[in-house]
This record gives sequence, structure tokens and C-alpha cells, in this order.
Amino acid sequence: MSEKTEKRNVVLGITGSIAAYKAAELARLLVTRGFDVRCIMTECAQQFITSTTMQAVTGRAVATNFWEESEAAGIGHIQLADWAEALVVAPATADSIAKMAAGFADSPLLAVALATRAPIVVAPAMNVNMLTHPKTQENLEILRARGVHIVDPDEGALACGWNGAGRLAEPTEIFERVRNVLSAQDFAGRRIVITTGPTREALDPVRFISNRSSGKMGAALAREAYRRGAQVHLIHGPIHEQLPRAIKCQEVVSAEEMHRAVMATVASKSSMPDIVVMAAAVADYRPSEAAQEKIKKTEKSLNIKLVQNPDILHELGQLKRDERKPLLVGFAVETGEEIENLLGQTRAKLKHKNADMIVGNFAHDAFDLDTNRVWLVDRNGRQQEVATTDKWRVANKILDAILTLG
Ligand SMILES: Cc1cc2nc3c(=O)[nH]c(=O)nc-3n(C[C@H](O)[C@H](O)[C@H](O)COP(=O)(O)O)c2cc1C
Repeated sequence: MSEKTEKRNVVLGITGSIAAYKAAELARLLVTRGFDVRCIMTECAQQFITSTTMQAVTGRAVATNFWEESEAAGIGHIQLADWAEALVVAPATADSIAKMAAGFADSPLLAVALATRAPIVVAPAMNVNMLTHPKTQENLEILRARGVHIVDPDEGALACGWNGAGRLAEPTEIFERVRNVLSAQDFAGRRIVITTGPTREALDPVRFISNRSSGKMGAALAREAYRRGAQVHLIHGPIHEQLPRAIKCQEVVSAEEMHRAVMATVASKSSMPDIVVMAAAVADYRPSEAAQEKIKKTEKSLNIKLVQNPDILHELGQLKRDERKPLLVGFAVETGEEIENLLGQTRAKLKHKNADMIVGNFAHDAFDLDTNRVWLVDRNGRQQEVATTDKWRVANKILDAILTLG
């Protein structure tokens, strides 16, 4: 089931890497989402970022020293180890990783890492040669074998001047991994294809017809499905969302491209997804022809002939006439404020498309917003309103409803 609140206890360990400043952003993401965050900093970490910064971001005293821990942090290291529901070490230096692998406890952070029964997430950050050194790789393997979740560093330009792997993973990536580690994996083993965003239908090489969809709803569904253990494939139009690496993202532009991409996922029985959620705002029509060159402003008026695009949801619905798979969820958007009209359209769409569930929403509640208000109508006649709330919460309600359908 989805968590009602994310008020979970997280200990954030910060070690002496040049990337330590990014720990402030990670703490901010966690705190904003409702997590209770307490930081422990190594002595070296304090050369890079001050405990004052971390205290200000988390609103909690920061543990920096065994001998002052009771007044400074208001809680001893063993209490901290017991309090933690997750320990995140970000950034994690080669030195701290080696000490964790060997079981050292000569700093409050290492002592907590040894004493806690909570899951541990480690996000390494270091020079590429330190990272690829056999000893570091061996230490990471020891931690992995122990069940520690390693968030692999990114590749790119490093602060030390080298280019390669070693850059701390983005704070959003670490944040989503922490949420994943803390969540019930009730979608484990399920493959889910989600579409999101607008499509663009070319008029000429520089112009297109599109819509106001931001892709935020489908992106939220993808993140929450990943958090709950699903294997997620997101097929999206042009959107501006950062998604966890574990989500397979496939970018398309036009409705025809989206059609091809979605149909490819259901082409073979052996790799058939368990669930398809069509959250994309696929253009119903496209220009019958896209001009090869920019259309010139010569005429007083311009007629553009539009032709219908393929109806992806309908096609998927026909495909599953004989079998229940994939479980099919679509979206219906209406303008205006008539709830009965929206529900009528949603029910009609459920039947016409042979879907298992349709999520009805109003354009003014949904487009380009971080919140949404929806009605879930399913094949068993169930109807549920989800009052205006964050899209990630709406996404969890939709996923909860999917679980009730099998
Ligand atoms: C400017 C500077 C940047 C450093 N950056 C890193 C780094 O990104 N990763 C790393 O493993 N060590 C880095 N080090 C070395 C660590 O700070 C050093 O190994 C230290 O002992 C780590 O201690 P700690 O893990 O207890 O914080 C850096 C050192 C300096 C002086």
C-alpha cells in the first residue's frame, strides 16, 4: 500500500568529499517531503560544508563529535542508530567506504553504520582512479553483499580535473533511492509501461501543433511505481522531468512515434507488460502533410488539413479482448466543471476503449500543475474521487486502485 505520509526518520551521513555541498540539496528534498533528517558529519566533511548549513536545512542539531554528541545532537550515536529508519551516506568517500567495509567505528558516522539495523544507502563520490581502484571496488562489493544499497556515481567532468565515473549521483537520484528502500515493494515483479507528456505534430520543420500537457502526472506515476518495486518503462513526449535511472525512459515526438513505441512493448507475448497506463496527451489529429520547408507568410489565410492519429488506447483495448493482459488504464480530460459530464465521458471511455480503469480529470485541475483532482472509474463499477492533492499522492491512489484490479 502507499504510505500516507513520508515522515520517516533518516540519518544523513556526510563525509569529506568536494561533493559535500550537494548533501544540503539532498537534505532539503527529504525535509520538504516530510522526512525527519538528522545529519552526522565526519571531521573532514566539516572542511567542505558547515554543520550550521545542515542544521539550518534540517532544523536538527548535527552530530560531529563523539565527545560532544549528547549536547550537540541531543542524541547519542547508538540512539541515533536505533532511531534511523534509513542511513544514507552521501557523499561517501573512498576512505569511509573502506572503513565501513572493514567495520571500523572510530567516528560517530561509522559507529552508527555499524550499530544500525536500518537499511543503508551509500552514494560514493571520488576521483575516477580512486573509484576504479581494485580495493575500492572490492570494498563496494563487500558492502553490496552485506545488503547495502549503492547509488552508483555519475560519469562526467570531475572536480579533480579528470573525466570519468566518480561524480556524486544527482540528489534527486539518491532521494528516490531512499524512498524506494523505505517502501513496501508491492509492485515487485510487475512490468509497467507508462506514457506521458504531449506529442508534437509537425506543420513544417520549425512549427508544430501540440497541447499544454507537462507530463508531470505520468512522471509521478513512473516514480511511484519505481518506488513500489515495479519495472518501469516510460514513453514520453517532450517533458522536463528528472527520473530515477532505473526507469527506462524512451523519448518520442509525434503521436505516430508514440503509437509505434507503445505497440512495440506489447508485440511479443513473452515480454508483454503487466500494466499499461496511458497518461500522455496524444494529439487526436496531425497535419495531413508536414511541409519540407518553413511555410512562408504570403497568403491572408492558411488552411491546414488535419487527419486522425492512431487511437493507441483503443488499439490496446482491442488487443486484450481475449486476455486480461495488459491491465489497461487510460485518462480522460474534460474542460468545464460539470462533474456528471466528466463522469459520463469517463464511463463511456472505459467501455469504448475496453480499458480496466479510466482516470477522469478536468483540464484546469491537471495541466502543468503539481497537483490534480481525479475520479477513478474501473471495470468493476467502482468510482472513487481523489480530492486535490500532490500528483505523487494521486499517482499512489491510482496504483492502489490498480492493485485491487489484479
Ligand atoms: C579538496 C579535497 C577534495 C577531496 N575530495 C574527495 C572525494 O571527492 N572523494 C574521496 O573519496 N575523497 C576525497 N578527498 C579525500 C578525503 O577527504 C580523505 O580521504 C578523508 O580522509 C576522508 O575522510 P572521511 O571519509 O572521514 O570524511 C578530498 C580531499 C581534499 C583535500
